[in-house]
Amino acid sequence: LVVMILQDTIKVTRTQESKLSAVDWDNLPFGKVFSDHMLIMDYKDGAWQDPEIMPFGPLSMHPATSVIHYGQSIFEGLKAYRMDGGEIAIFRPDMNAKRFEESCARMCMPVIPEKVFVELTRKFVEIESDWIPTKEGFSLYLRPFLFGTDEYIGIKPSDTYRFVIFACPVGAYYNEPVNVKIEEFYTRASVGGVGRAKTAGNYAAALYPARLGQQKGYHQLVWTDGKTHEYIEESGTMNVMFVIDGVLITPSEETDTILRGITKRSVVEVAKMWGMPVEERQVSVAEVVQAHREGRLTEAFGAGTAATIAHIAKIGYREEDLILPAIETRTFSLKVHAYLDDIKSGKVEDTFGWLSK
Ligand code: COI
Repeated sequence: LVVMILQDTIKVTRTQESKLSAVDWDNLPFGKVFSDHMLIMDYKDGAWQDPEIMPFGPLSMHPATSVIHYGQSIFEGLKAYRMDGGEIAIFRPDMNAKRFEESCARMCMPVIPEKVFVELTRKFVEIESDWIPTKEGFSLYLRPFLFGTDEYIGIKPSDTYRFVIFACPVGAYYNEPVNVKIEEFYTRASVGGVGRAKTAGNYAAALYPARLGQQKGYHQLVWTDGKTHEYIEESGTMNVMFVIDGVLITPSEETDTILRGITKRSVVEVAKMWGMPVEERQVSVAEVVQAHREGRLTEAFGAGTAATIAHIAKIGYREEDLILPAIETRTFSLKVHAYLDDIKSGKVEDTFGWLSK
């Protein structure tokens, strides 16, 4: 398989009718516009079968397909960019590949080796290159996913799987600073659970509590640990980061309840390069609230592939709203957001080697 991919002999069937000319680039909702093709690779008889790129379209399923019932399903999100010089770059696909491998293992699914994941992504992006937006802040969002396809309703890991990659041209996931609510009753993930895996059920389980928050005017919840609800974890669509007393603080990944974010990791690495103190550790709700009361919480933001850097305007805490400083004053998050954008567009040198071109 690896040889086939590296030798570039993947079967490609091109669409007869591109949807490209119908796209309204000035009105691009997140995740609702899909490119012309998709990549499919099946797993059966204990081996990955030949991948194929074909026109984007529906997948038909037997009603007993295991994923529909028991949720053996994982996904990734990563982005391809059109650089200023016209070159194509994918941001840190190796990191997504590694996380995908971890999710596979946790969900009892056959692993796709990192190299294969990256090469399939690259090949797919090459075919869809006309779909990469050129507008600043826009990109081609790639959605690789894997699910169990056995036609069987007994409980066991599926013996057969389907891996798919499709793509959506996108702008920002949130087009305004976000209001978040600290959730102290519902739990996203518990120790020993699947919080670290990017698996479908984590998102399904979050819908109801998130809806309760949305009814009160919050975009998102900030999850706290399932045991004491005293420590901040993540926000579901993004990891959360704070600047307190000039220190960048974010919940540590030691616990297996937090998704290992690639944008967050990149922010941490840039901050360290700039000499900013960074603390990855347990972050208590109490210290964030206290820092806000004392005027020491100068920035709070979410970091995610889809969300990019999403400034947090307001944090709902119990019956109170903590109003954070004006966005224009957020020196660090504005600067790091711009810096990451500049790496992706090629305006600054990619000294970390994050772009796969
Ligand atoms: C991401 O790709 O950033 C995600 O976490 C998926 C989703 C929230 C759109």
